[in-house]
Amino acid sequence: MRVLIVGSGAREHALAWKLSRAEGVEELYAAPGNPGMAALAHCVPIAADATVELAEFAASLHMDFTVVGPELPLCLGIADEFARRGLALLGPTRAAAEIEGSKVFAKDLCLRHGIPTAQAIVARNLDEAVAGARRFGLPVVLKADGLAAGKGVAVCRSRDQLDEALVRFFEERAFGTAGERVLVEECLEGSEVSFMVLTDGATILPLASARDYKRLGDGDAGPNTGGMGAVSPTSLPQGLGTAILKDIVYPTVSGLAQEGRVFQGVLYAGVMLTADGPKLLEYNCRLGDPETQVVIPRLDDDLLPLLQAAARGDLGSMRAGWRHEAVACVVLAAAGYPDSPRRGDVITGLGPALALGGTLVFQAGTAMDEGHLVTAGGRVLSVLGRGVSISDAAATAYQAVSQIHFAGMQYRRDIGKDVS
Ligand code: AMP
Ligand code: GLY
Repeated sequence: MRVLIVGSGAREHALAWKLSRAEGVEELYAAPGNPGMAALAHCVPIAADATVELAEFAASLHMDFTVVGPELPLCLGIADEFARRGLALLGPTRAAAEIEGSKVFAKDLCLRHGIPTAQAIVARNLDEAVAGARRFGLPVVLKADGLAAGKGVAVCRSRDQLDEALVRFFEERAFGTAGERVLVEECLEGSEVSFMVLTDGATILPLASARDYKRLGDGDAGPNTGGMGAVSPTSLPQGLGTAILKDIVYPTVSGLAQEGRVFQGVLYAGVMLTADGPKLLEYNCRLGDPETQVVIPRLDDDLLPLLQAAARGDLGSMRAGWRHEAVACVVLAAAGYPDSPRRGDVITGLGPALALGGTLVFQAGTAMDEGHLVTAGGRVLSVLGRGVSISDAAATAYQAVSQIHFAGMQYRRDIGKDVS
């Protein structure tokens, strides 16, 4: 079988690592991939968002299956392009991916199907946003409707933060067309969980539990990022997992199907565990990054049959077995991340980090420059440790981190420290 992975992050490297070991996968391709993936797959220089070019490439090679990592190609309709050519791919159609592509659509879907979420109003201009903020009072949350690379949300706890966000959203128009509509919503308090399921549009198969660490600094200080680390499993009580499935995930999948937007792929619900029960914060139409890096190594079974069954609409017959082990991921980010990551710093120590045993390193923002591996993006490496407990796994990950070096390397020192 020929399999194509679309994307170039550590999430896609983790997929390549797993799929390269799958029975029956003879040729693995990645578009565009990264230097780490190049050891496992043929990397082809087609951008992840070039959906037509990717479909033409897959057709020319008679690709047997394609899996898509990032949200942008899904929101641009890569699944529709592949379906038009009769090519197998796992990922939602453009219509189903709108749950991530438009926060206004997602909010309305919740209202239509009784899915618990924060109350919100849609603002198209400054006056409407100010009125909305007044209605909810502080703290209040502003969200750009469209995709904004994880930067389109402002949680405003003070008047100053709100004023600054209003300027950014409505005067500077920082999010362009993605910010034409803005959700102004009540701020939910509680702890957050990421809940990922594989679905064929009807059957739901929960993936192993995971959580990410969104802020740049220790103790959740500093700016929001794409994710600075993750652990799996989490200590989410069974009852809460069941409640999230029943109140949020099932009504979402069935609601989308009822509305003619059958969702096939990975549905990721970001959930706040509030005093009134779990409430939806946001949907993603894809695997989380870095959650995937800690979930995939725990999967005992082959990944490909699961993904194929979801794409065929045949997930009901499948089971997924998870190893009784813990995995922790520490993300190493470039100097200047998240605002202006520096490129070109030489990375050393990957060999010794991997030689420790119980470690894995997945690459993201890396490139080759005259024979050297160098930084080439915000999140550079996902360094993983495996162990019998989260603290054991985190200790192993940090041992690996201590072997790795590049100028200006930033990482959190507290991944897995708050769980045992
Ligand atoms: P999102 O991109 O919607 O996940 O938002 C990014 C982060 O903002 C979330 O992970 C939460 O930490 C925070 N957030 C979003 N919506 C709310 C809300 N209604 N109340 C409190 N925090 C929120
Ligand atoms: N880790 C959060 C995300 O993938 O969106």
